[in-house]
Amino acid sequence: MAKNSSTRSVGKACFGNWLVTAALLFGSTASSVQGAESTDITRNCNECHGTDGLGFKPGVPHLNGQPDYLLTNMINAFQQGKRSTKVKMHRDITDAEVAPLARHYAQKKAQRPKSATNPDLVARGEAVYLKRCADCHVDNGRDSDKEAPLMAAQDLNYLIDQTLAFKTGVRKFPFLMDGAYKDLADEDLTAAAHFFAAQEQEVPKKRRRR
Ligand code: HEC
Ligand code: HEC
Repeated sequence: MAKNSSTRSVGKACFGNWLVTAALLFGSTASSVQGAESTDITRNCNECHGTDGLGFKPGVPHLNGQPDYLLTNMINAFQQGKRSTKVKMHRDITDAEVAPLARHYAQKKAQRPKSATNPDLVARGEAVYLKRCADCHVDNGRDSDKEAPLMAAQDLNYLIDQTLAFKTGVRKFPFLMDGAYKDLADEDLTAAAHFFAAQEQEVPKKRRRR
């Protein structure tokens, strides 16, 4: 199966590689070539994630500013079937495309549109967050420890889906996150999603000094 799909996409992959190679060869002086690479590499993703990595529709995550290695992990999990997905295209991303895609979205810093959140749930979610999630989803979800994705200002519908997906078993818990979920009700988890969605995506000043 993998063989077939790679044969079919050979033409496209070669063209993509050529552009990457050209961009590498000509470096920053060839800005038009680099521009072509960025547009080209995300051509299959733009409809949902935008060229800047901003999710267009409710339920589509923002990818911008997510560290390079985490985007790589996420895409690899889709490719290898370790994470289920509603979008077939995620499985068809070729190995050669992973690094340029991850690099592309990691560099994008556009302002994420904020989802409308419920203030009562944000407050309840903050309590859950501080007790259970803060060790790994550091700094209100703006930073990461133990390979946890950044969550601040993430799309609310996406966050609710994914938060519950670990509990229902649709998504496999990463190391130690199952302990953090112990005895939490769906309402607590939904509240945590509201809390993350309501956060500012910018890193606060105290962290900028590092
Ligand atoms: C039809 C819409 C659509 C297209 C096209 C699409 N995505 Fe997605 N993407 C989604 C949705 C919806 C999710 C949420 C999880 C799921 O159902 O797969 C997602 C999740 C992701 C995630 C995981 C984010 C996280 O925080 O864990 C990554 C990474 C990603 N997409 C990358 C891509 C890349 C790269 C492409 C292009 C090759 C692409 N997507 C094309 C809709 C899309
Ligand atoms: C021990 C560290 C740890 C703790 C504590 C933790 N998480 Fe996570 N979380 C992770 C890691 C690692 C991932 C990435 C999982 C993956 O790649 O599949 C993750 C992913 C997620 C995601 C998916 C985000 C995305 O964009 O794909 C959600 C939602 C989430 N965590 C919610 C929570 C909530 C809610 C809590 C607290 C109740 C929590 N986590 C506590 C480590 C942790």
